[in-house]
Amino acid sequence: MGERRRPVSASRLARSVFLLSVLVSVWWVATRQAGDAPASPGAAPLASPFTGLAQYDVETPFKVFGSLRKHGPLGSVSMVHAGRSRGELCFPTPWRDARLAGSKAPPPAKWCAIMFNNKYKFIFVKCPKTAGTSLVTYFTDCSEPTAADRCVRLLNYTDAAMVQHLVDAWPDYFVFSFSRNVLRRAISQYQYLTRFLSEDEGCPRVSWDKYCLDPFVLGDVCHATATSSCCTQSAEHQYVHASPQANCFTTAAGRSALDWLGRVEAFEEDFAALVGLLNARPGVPKLPADVLPTKANYNASPCKNSSSSDAAGGSSGDDGGGGGGAAAAAQAAAAAASRRLRWNVRDGMENPCDKNDFFRGQHKHCYAAVTNFYAEDLLLLAQ
Ligand SMILES: *[C@@H]1O[C@H](CO)[C@@H](O)[C@H](O)[C@H]1NC(C)=O
Ligand SMILES: *[C@@H]1O[C@H](CO)[C@@H](O)[C@H](O)[C@H]1NC(C)=O
Repeated sequence: MGERRRPVSASRLARSVFLLSVLVSVWWVATRQAGDAPASPGAAPLASPFTGLAQYDVETPFKVFGSLRKHGPLGSVSMVHAGRSRGELCFPTPWRDARLAGSKAPPPAKWCAIMFNNKYKFIFVKCPKTAGTSLVTYFTDCSEPTAADRCVRLLNYTDAAMVQHLVDAWPDYFVFSFSRNVLRRAISQYQYLTRFLSEDEGCPRVSWDKYCLDPFVLGDVCHATATSSCCTQSAEHQYVHASPQANCFTTAAGRSALDWLGRVEAFEEDFAALVGLLNARPGVPKLPADVLPTKANYNASPCKNSSSSDAAGGSSGDDGGGGGGAAAAAQAAAAAASRRLRWNVRDGMENPCDKNDFFRGQHKHCYAAVTNFYAEDLLLLAQ
């Protein structure tokens, strides 16, 4: 496991931090508990962290999933708990300004949203673009009038008492999240995040070819145009959604912060396993096993008209997802048409039926770019 090389150029400091995180990741993977793919007996150790990527395409789920050994709170939580301020850690203005000046330095913290429920004693680390919205349709949102008793409440990082509560609860509560293939997730991010860019003349356009080189670019655009109406979302929103998934899975030391990790690629199967595990805990009320999440589906395939036929991972954050009936079907078809149009405006290209096409031909450079940008996720989970 010694021969690991980073295909990304970076500052020496970033490289040292990275090497440390690689070692920790390797150790984390080596110490994970059962539930993931069994190691093939007698297989030679991988010579390079990216050897497995020879076969890696948009459908490949991460190899590491299921039950994990939890080591402590998520990095963003423990850093805030240790006295660092949210504003200092979550894509702060100096970091954004440095990016506009050409810096590629990583953000000062690995930021991720957290949701929790005290009655059912669980913490859901809500990784962007990994079926989070679909999961919230099952649990329901505590801030909505329709909240059930299993609803999830968003951690307010500036509320010291709530941060303390999460730190205290972390060892005992069941902590889970979902992962997604980095290539497929990058497409989903691009489709979702560009919808917050105005199509007005004079507003910046960001093509897929440009986005794939550095997914933080949509945050940059919103930061640079903050005083205009070109962006209808905050720069912070755009940066958070483009961030690596490892931000949502690891402690400050790069170890697992989770008890369990599901896969968007096997959403139905893994969701059922999750409910089973949550319900297997003694002394905790049972969640309904006969209620299923509604698939949010922003990135409907252009090859299908049904709103429910695409992967659950197409979740948008706010499209809700399809109900039944002809009216809903018509609405879904209209929404899909509008998405196709938006994609064309953004990129001047078709939204192909085979998502691998985003990494082939004229977009070939996007394969190395995206796997490099999300190298941390791949090192942690792809082998
Ligand atoms: C978060 O907590 C802070 C401090 O208690 C409070 O001022 C702020 O209104 C809260 N934000 C939200 C969205 O509840
Ligand atoms: C989707 O709907 C459009 C418009 O109604 C139709 O022309 C097209 O054939 C449909 N495609 C599929 C795959 O059903």
